[in-house]
Amino acid sequence: MIYQRVQFDLGACLLRPWRDGDQPALQRHANDWEVARWLRDRFPHPYTADDADEWVEYASTALLGQVFAIEVAGEAVGGVGLVPGEDIFRRSAEVGYWLGRSQWGQGLAPLAVQALSRYALEDRQFIRLFAGVFSGNHRSGRVLAKAGYTLEGVRRAAVYKGGQLLDEEVWVRLAPLPQEA
Ligand SMILES: CC(C)(COP(=O)(O)OP(=O)(O)OC[C@H]1O[C@@H](n2cnc3c(N)ncnc32)[C@H](O)[C@@H]1OP(=O)(O)O)[C@@H](O)C(=O)NCCC(=O)NCCS
Repeated sequence: MIYQRVQFDLGACLLRPWRDGDQPALQRHANDWEVARWLRDRFPHPYTADDADEWVEYASTALLGQVFAIEVAGEAVGGVGLVPGEDIFRRSAEVGYWLGRSQWGQGLAPLAVQALSRYALEDRQFIRLFAGVFSGNHRSGRVLAKAGYTLEGVRRAAVYKGGQLLDEEVWVRLAPLPQEA
């Protein structure tokens, strides 16, 4: 199955591969503690031009077909992607996403997560999609609920971020697909 070059036109935004030229917009939107504080430390803060170069290089080659830029008005304003499990976890994938703060509150992330989830379950035949949400990230919980995920449980004190211990909420969506509008 050829899926590497897939893109999704969702009306309000486009999910498409990261590409050379995205670096300045990426750095501008990503260089924000209000974004980074809810993500793993491999999402750097501060987010430098070198970080943007490295990400675009990696995302547009090794991660092609797994991670997508969220494009609005011709500009990459965030990202969404899958991390496939390995070995016995190979039918599972972790879903991750972020948006520059200027784009929050317009329902873009639920749209993107919904589209990526359908693709992962239908075309890539994953059975279990999950996302880990740090305690206090209510916006992200809302995104997942709107994209058909349910809260499976809480991993207590699992996260050490920004010098703080936090719980991690595990949200899941399983195949087969529920009826969707
Ligand atoms: C989480 C995130 C992707 C949400 O994306 P989004 O496109 O803004 O999502 P929505 O527009 O659906 O808003 C989600 C919820 O955030 C809240 N929200 C949105 N805009 C808000 C604002 N300006 N102020 C306060 N709350 C707001 C609302 O409760 C909304 O839920 P509702 O529609 O049921 O009321 C975005 O905030 C983000 O990138 N955060 C940092 C990175 C992150 O947390 N990634 C996920 C890690 S698990």
